[in-house]
Amino acid sequence: MRVPPARIQFSPEDRATVLAQIDRAMETGQLTLGPVGKELEAEFAVRHNAKHAVAVSSGTSALEIILRALAVDGREVIVPANTFFATAAAAMHAGATLKFADCDPETMAIDVQHAASLITSQTAAIVVVHIGGLVAPSIEALQGLCRDHDVHLVEDAAHAHGSSFRGRSAGTFGIAGSFSFYPTKVIAGGEGGMIITDDDMIADEARIYRDQGKGSFLANFHTRLGHNWRMSEPHAAIVLAQLRRLDEFIDARQALARRYDAALAEIGLRTVHVAANANCNYYKYIVFLPDGVERTELKQLLRDEFDIGLSGEVYDTPLHHQPVFAPMAEAQGIVNLAGAEWLCARHICLPLYPSLSEIDADYVVASLATALSRLGAEIVSIR
Ligand SMILES: Cc1ncc(COP(=O)(O)O)c(C=O)c1O
Repeated sequence: MRVPPARIQFSPEDRATVLAQIDRAMETGQLTLGPVGKELEAEFAVRHNAKHAVAVSSGTSALEIILRALAVDGREVIVPANTFFATAAAAMHAGATLKFADCDPETMAIDVQHAASLITSQTAAIVVVHIGGLVAPSIEALQGLCRDHDVHLVEDAAHAHGSSFRGRSAGTFGIAGSFSFYPTKVIAGGEGGMIITDDDMIADEARIYRDQGKGSFLANFHTRLGHNWRMSEPHAAIVLAQLRRLDEFIDARQALARRYDAALAEIGLRTVHVAANANCNYYKYIVFLPDGVERTELKQLLRDEFDIGLSGEVYDTPLHHQPVFAPMAEAQGIVNLAGAEWLCARHICLPLYPSLSEIDADYVVASLATALSRLGAEIVSIR
């Protein structure tokens, strides 16, 4: 395919470094919770301005651990309706009842006013998700809301490695933040996740929960209902190599995003609003569809005739319409959430990764313009 939806690449130097670290792990037999993982945690904490970083097996387990440490069991957790399944599933696995909040069609972030209307005496936490890597300005209102109601703010920063708002890193606005190293993420680890927090209790609990709830690595006393949520040394080695390239990756993504911004403005397409004081890592480059254009048809046309694969949506089905959550939402009287439903239906994600050439980025926009006009959309001009 000329422009695939994603390209996951490692430089020969990084591959050599990772292989040497895996070789050392095999030589010493320290294959999990070892020195590479510790190095990764230390560097991740510094890069994200957090006191602690705890490496775990996935972004999902990172979030579940935070919510377990916050004792949400038997209480309510508010989640945005436009997010990945795992955000909500982690809260349910931690024993919470879900409340689904609407989302803002400008930034895709949780709608603060709607979230406020869902707070009850049973609310333990609100989870904010930085969709596409964007920390929306409403994060400050959300912090205020949580403070006023004595509710924990938790960040699902699975998309937001290295992103910030007013110089503050994603993951540090609430009590703790979770990150994912799934292969398509800005930092690809194969599998893996990270918890960051300034809170000593959460960091201690996270280390207990990730290792089968054991009070310490060597003792066999299980003080919490933990799980095998450890990160292996080979995974830590891959993630560490990627972390050391994070600024380079973000620079490349931002340069391409600026190119997309200019070209899309010329053809009159609206993109997610990135505030001037937000530093977005552009995990996703999100474009809103003109009225009347059907996404499936557009994707098919781009694939079949232009050899372009669009990146996956964030997201195409809101949580309250997911079969597994719909009965719960209905029981709470939540049938439609206009903002989230519109967002899910009306956006696409352009291919964006560090190895995408400027020529291919221009080709994507030109092809998009042609495809849209063929599907009947009014496009301002086609270059
Ligand atoms: C918003 C969001 N939350 C949580 C997750 C779960 O991360 P993982 O796949 O590492 O468990 C993802 C990953 O796809 C995600 O996009």
